[in-house]
Amino acid sequence: MAKRINVGTLISGGGTNLQAIIDACLDNSIDADIVFTGSDNPGVKGLERAQKVDIDTFVVDYSQIIRSCKKGINDADLPNDFNLDQIQAKQQLVATDASKDQIAFFLKTRAIAEKKLLDIIFAYDMDLLVLAGFMRVLTPYFIDRINTEPGKYKIMNIHPALLPSFPGTDGYGDTFRYGCKIGGCTVHFIDYGEDTGPIIGQKAFEIKDNDTLDDIKKKGLEKEWELYPQCIQKFADSL
Ligand code: GAR
Repeated sequence: MAKRINVGTLISGGGTNLQAIIDACLDNSIDADIVFTGSDNPGVKGLERAQKVDIDTFVVDYSQIIRSCKKGINDADLPNDFNLDQIQAKQQLVATDASKDQIAFFLKTRAIAEKKLLDIIFAYDMDLLVLAGFMRVLTPYFIDRINTEPGKYKIMNIHPALLPSFPGTDGYGDTFRYGCKIGGCTVHFIDYGEDTGPIIGQKAFEIKDNDTLDDIKKKGLEKEWELYPQCIQKFADSL
């Protein structure tokens, strides 16, 4: 049996993946416990799911932070250890044809939000951070402060497509519109790109000719609920 690991979770919405992980922890089908659930979005159902089983919850309201940054960002608003040049050199999130100002605004606003996340997360003893429907990209500012041991990834994400196909925000929609006959989901580690990190596990399902996008989402989520706990257990077994 593997050591029981402490898992932090970040969500943005309904949290059905979070629920699958909560259930797997509670019925001991995985060697893990959830130590917190954070959201970028206040009032979402996923937070209620966590609170119902006494998991600590918190919100870092990204939309509000971005709105306030649009009025202007002072150096004093930025984390003390924020270095724009270093982060810009590493990041692979913003298209290279974006203007210097756009890239700087994006990286600064995210670092302000990410520092708030880190300040809360660092209060916990955490082996693994699991993104369970967290709809925000993480910049190198955040990633480097979680992945502190070279070569050891500690942030996992679930993506609604068979990567490397269809990265981005609408994996099942892109799969459907392309006319694919097989869809799927992927759990991978987070690196500096969008949905590019090392793949931990995948599950596929058949798409019938008359399947709607809703059918695909339903089939996909059912696979996700099986896959995510399995990948967390794989991580626990690797320690
Ligand atoms: C899931 O389909 C997950 O794969 C996707 O959001 C949904 C969250 O559902 N994640 C992404 O697209 C990440 N880029 P849930 O809140 O019910 O778990």
